[in-house]
Formats: sequence, C-alpha cells, structure tokens
Amino acid sequence: MWHAKISFWRRKRVWVIGATSGIGYGLAKELVRAGATVIASGRSEKAIAALQNDGMIPFKLDVTEEKWPEFPQGIGGPVDVLIYSAGSWTAVDIPSWDQNAFNDQVKVNFLGLAKATSIVLPEMMRRNKGTIVGISSASGYTALPRAEAYGSSKAAVMYFLQSLRIDLMGTNIRVVEVNPGFIDTPLTEKNDFYMPFLGTVDDSTKAILGGIEGGSNEIHFPRKLTVPIKILRLLPAPIIRYLIMKITKRRSHG
Ligand SMILES: NC(=O)c1ccc[n+]([C@@H]2O[C@H](COP(=O)([O-])OP(=O)(O)OC[C@H]3O[C@@H](n4cnc5c(N)ncnc54)[C@H](OP(=O)(O)O)[C@@H]3O)[C@@H](O)[C@H]2O)c1
Repeated sequence: MWHAKISFWRRKRVWVIGATSGIGYGLAKELVRAGATVIASGRSEKAIAALQNDGMIPFKLDVTEEKWPEFPQGIGGPVDVLIYSAGSWTAVDIPSWDQNAFNDQVKVNFLGLAKATSIVLPEMMRRNKGTIVGISSASGYTALPRAEAYGSSKAAVMYFLQSLRIDLMGTNIRVVEVNPGFIDTPLTEKNDFYMPFLGTVDDSTKAILGGIEGGSNEIHFPRKLTVPIKILRLLPAPIIRYLIMKITKRRSHG
C-alpha cells in the first residue's frame, strides 16, 4: 500500500478544509500517519468531533459564512500547507433552476478557497514559504451539460490558482492545482450517470500527496480520462460540443 513520505510531511502544519469526508478525509488521515499536524475543517459537528480520534485538530467551519471563526491557536506555528477540498455538486436542471444551489456551489467550491488563501497568505509571504493546494476538477477543463454551476466554479478555481501562481513567481510559495476525474465519495454517490474510470479515495490520496511531494504544479488523474479531455480542448468549439453531447448522450435544449 502507498504511503506519504514521513521525511516530507513530518512536523508540517497542514490545514485541510473539507476534511470530514471523501478526498479531504483520505488526505488528512494519511497526513496524520506521515507525522503532520493536521487542522481539519468541515461543517458537520459529529464528523468534526470524530476527527479528533483520528489525531487531527478539529476546526468547525462553514466556508459559506461571511465571518469565519478564529483559527485555532496552539498548533505550534503558522500553516505550512493549505489543502482546500471543500466541495458541493448539484446538477443544474434548467426547467427548475435552483439559484440557491448555484450560489452554494460558487461559494463552497470557489469563494471559500479565495477566503482561506487570504487567511494563510500573509504569513506565508512574511516567511517566504508555504504551499496552497486547491482541488478543482477535470470538469473545469471543458463545458459539460448540467454543470453550469459546478463546472464554472471549478474553472474559476483553476483560473484563480493559475493567476495566483503568476503573482507568487519568484517567491518560495507553491500553488498546486488538483484536477481529479471521478472518485467514489459521498459527492458522486448520487450521480445517476456512468462515471468512466471511477477511482477510489486511496487512488486520490496517492495521486495528490505523491504529486505534492514530487513538486507538481498541476496534479490530474486518472490520466486515462484527463489526458483525452486535455486533447479534446484543442479542437474547434463545435466539434468539442458535438463530441461532449455524443459522449454524455444528451440533446441540445434548443
Ligand atoms: N469525487 C469526485 O469525483 C470529485 C471529482 C473532481 C473533483 N472533486 C472535488 O474534490 C473535492 C472533495 O470532494 P469529495 O468527492 O471528497 O466530496 P465529499 O465527500 O462530499 O466531501 C466534501 C467536503 O466538503 C465539505 N464541505 C461542503 N460544504 C462545506 C461548507 N459549506 N463549509 C465547509 N466544508 C464544506 C464537507 O464537509 P461537511 O459536510 O462536514 O461540511 C466534506 O468534508 C471537492 O472540491 C470536489 O468538487 C471531487
């Protein structure tokens, strides 16, 4: 079984937002095993309390709230690595457009990352050291049906991280973009469509932590899915649209 490098993570302070479930929980658990101090955030009171038994420092947080609670003291120093894995996904159904669900996805997937970054960045700048990891999605690479909210929030995350990386060039602050394909988690449980190359949380933990250890700026997996999507993006827009509709077996609304 794959394990994160203790020599890389030991004594690092890592703030994982979205640590109560799925990809974030897998990362947080493995980071504790590798000797990191993990500050673990999510909304669910019960899930947050349970994280303490896993050796994490629970920090209950709803990223959609205007004012965030005070960051826990006593973690022995500033955050070395921010991993933003909070996520929300609801398919858009045009005839019954749900603006609240739309807003929630933009807030959780995108604006929360910007806010968390604004909290850790000043100290990272002062120390000229740190890593910011944002979990976007392969769905942000190209427009997919029913993803007007989720896909656009994920594309925004990609843009945000790439822009931030440009602004931080010449510093020792790393910005890492993570673009997973389908992973079997509570987020995808409700999907009623075929998810090609569906991976496990263990697959995502290995790809993400291995990629960070290896110095990658962009971590995407599974390659069997993400590389063809990246190639697809190079085609003219009408061909992309035709292929996406064929693959997802959808007809135009028009
Ligand atoms: N699974 C996939 O196939 C897949 C593919 C590509 C990208 N991703 C992305 O990977 C990330 C993790 O997804 P996952 O599959 O692991 O989903 P998940 O199991 O549903 O986990 C989502 C996490 O986000 C937290 N969260 C949701 N709303 C929040 C809020 N308002 N405030 C604070 N935390 C909140 C949840 O905690 P609480 O419920 O306790 O708040 C939970 O810890 C997401 O950004 C997702 O978009 C997933």
